[in-house]
Amino acid sequence: MIQFFHVTKKYRQGAQALSDVSAHIEKGEFVFLTGPSGAGKTTFLKMVFREDVPTSGQVIVHNDDVATMSARRIPYLRRQIGVVFQDFKLLPRKTVFENVAFATQVIGLPRKEQRVRTFQVLEMLGLNHRLHNYPEQVSGGEQQRMAIARALVNRPLILLADEPTGNLDPDLAKEIMGLFKDINSHGTTVIIATHDRDLIRRMSRRVIALDHGRVVATAVA
Ligand SMILES: Nc1ncnc2c1ncn2[C@@H]1O[C@H](COP(=O)(O)OP(=O)(O)OP(=O)(O)O)[C@@H](O)[C@H]1O
Ligand SMILES: [Mg+2]
Repeated sequence: MIQFFHVTKKYRQGAQALSDVSAHIEKGEFVFLTGPSGAGKTTFLKMVFREDVPTSGQVIVHNDDVATMSARRIPYLRRQIGVVFQDFKLLPRKTVFENVAFATQVIGLPRKEQRVRTFQVLEMLGLNHRLHNYPEQVSGGEQQRMAIARALVNRPLILLADEPTGNLDPDLAKEIMGLFKDINSHGTTVIIATHDRDLIRRMSRRVIALDHGRVVATAVA
């Protein structure tokens, strides 16, 4: 479902963020992407939802080469992918409810369905007492859960999460992981970038380890 063939990414100003990365992620798999800061984790995720394209090599998602797919198809690709960004990217002038509902508007769900799904996912993430607060009025952990709610509300086939438990206390982190597991058990492919070795050890899923842009190991933790 997701294939990297000899992917290299060189940024104009920076180092080589990915060097000859090859990897396969099956439909329905749950994979951790790990490695030290600067290893290329975020860059890897960006290639999957085509925020960026490789300098050389190919990234194939659902049988489509992301670099050469027509502009018309890009929104369809993104619609199938939920992303939890490392820096959340919440909209500061929208409330918790509006931030999440906005994602459902963008894909053109009927109004009633927008509300139903938004309430559902916010309840699942324990945010129903924060509906009318703005991002700056809620805690870091709550902002993180907003970002997760927004990624999940459109029921994506692929969930990409970049350090999704970075700001959470251990109990909440465990809970969020449980939620990702649940989502995965319903068929969603899940890729999580994280430094958190304890978390990875507890979950015993496949790990793709990056270092200086190269895959240095791929094994079950
Ligand atoms: N837009 C960019 N322009 C130039 N260099 C970049 C850009 N984005 C990333 N890099 C560089 O590419 C390398 C990989 O960065 P990336 O963000 O993928 O690492 P990461 O593993 O996600 O790190 P972290 O754990 O700190 O989030 C780093 O050396 C970084 O400085
Ligand atoms: Mg990163």
